[in-house]
Amino acid sequence: MRAIVVDGPGGLEALSYRTDLETPQPGPGQVRVRTAYAGVNFFDTLIRSGRYGRKPKYPIILGGELSGWVDALGEGVEGLSIGQPVSALTGDSGCYADFALAPAGSVIPIPDGMDMKLAAAWPLQWLTAWGVLYASGKARSGDWVLVHAAAGGVGQALTQMASRSGCRVIATAGSQEKCDFALAHGAEFAINYREKEFGREARAITGGRGVDIICDSVGAANVIGNLRAICFFGLIVVFGYASGEPEYDERLLWGRSCGVAMNGLYHLVERTELLSRGVSEMLPGLSDGSFRLHIHSVQPLAEAAQAHAALEGRETIGKLLLEVNPA
Ligand SMILES: NC(=O)c1ccc[n+]([C@@H]2O[C@H](COP(=O)([O-])OP(=O)(O)OC[C@H]3O[C@@H](n4cnc5c(N)ncnc54)[C@H](OP(=O)(O)O)[C@@H]3O)[C@@H](O)[C@H]2O)c1
Repeated sequence: MRAIVVDGPGGLEALSYRTDLETPQPGPGQVRVRTAYAGVNFFDTLIRSGRYGRKPKYPIILGGELSGWVDALGEGVEGLSIGQPVSALTGDSGCYADFALAPAGSVIPIPDGMDMKLAAAWPLQWLTAWGVLYASGKARSGDWVLVHAAAGGVGQALTQMASRSGCRVIATAGSQEKCDFALAHGAEFAINYREKEFGREARAITGGRGVDIICDSVGAANVIGNLRAICFFGLIVVFGYASGEPEYDERLLWGRSCGVAMNGLYHLVERTELLSRGVSEMLPGLSDGSFRLHIHSVQPLAEAAQAHAALEGRETIGKLLLEVNPA
């Protein structure tokens, strides 16, 4: 089997393309999927470089999501059939490979005819966005929602979902092109944070009131701006640390009676009821095109390093994929 393996934390050179690996065998409750496309996520770069919060065991095959076809069923798995096209979440690893194992509960049958690229591109980032916005943020129509990295993979999902829910979305991004993308995907306002301080700007946009919910995957660099932007009783939902771990001074939170919540996708995946709600609220819209998922690039499996370089270099808009077995 072919796969991208990381033997130990490092730079792009740590991604090694191997062709001599054994096909994994599904244990009880597991499903083996033959990979069509694997999603590339920012957290893959954190695992590769040793900066991920949950320390993995190396060597590791990267990749937490894929599309493909059910290839083998472990003991006790019901309701799936060999050859069935699916999207799947595998946890932190396993998908940059010809075959991957997923817990049966994280294997999601896809609608007939759904594009296999799209099927690989949505589950991790769009379910994360759903959890941030609804499970943590409790977003309601009329709320002001500030979305950071709004042209990124999770960002494009947050922007569209919030605006579809009747929220008023303020996006931040690091270039005019990314701001324009966010405006074209549901944001009412977009702030290029390299040109304007986003905290004061968001406060001014809301007429001095502040925003109800902040969706923040950037972390440390955004703490001060977030405290400027949040309204009384608002909630900052932290779900990533692209710039480092944020530290919020409790006294400053008291100053607005506001809160900070942390959000991890794995907690949503563990709760079957929440997971199926997320899936049923997003998959039809993705499949019929009413949610627009922009794919930035599709690289051959062996060229995973190029995808990592682009993601770490902040060059990307939307989703990155690796092509493994497209048919
Ligand atoms: N909690 C969870 O379960 C969960 C699940 C999935 C993803 N995440 C997190 O969500 C975030 C977004 O993930 P994604 O895969 O969708 O990536 P992404 O947003 O497509 O790419 C990362 C973007 O973050 C922005 N950024 C800000 N500071 C950065 C820095 N120091 N280095 C690199 N990028 C920086 C850049 O956008 P600008 O140019 O606009 O600044 C960049 O394009 C990541 O932090 C990821 O770890 C968390």
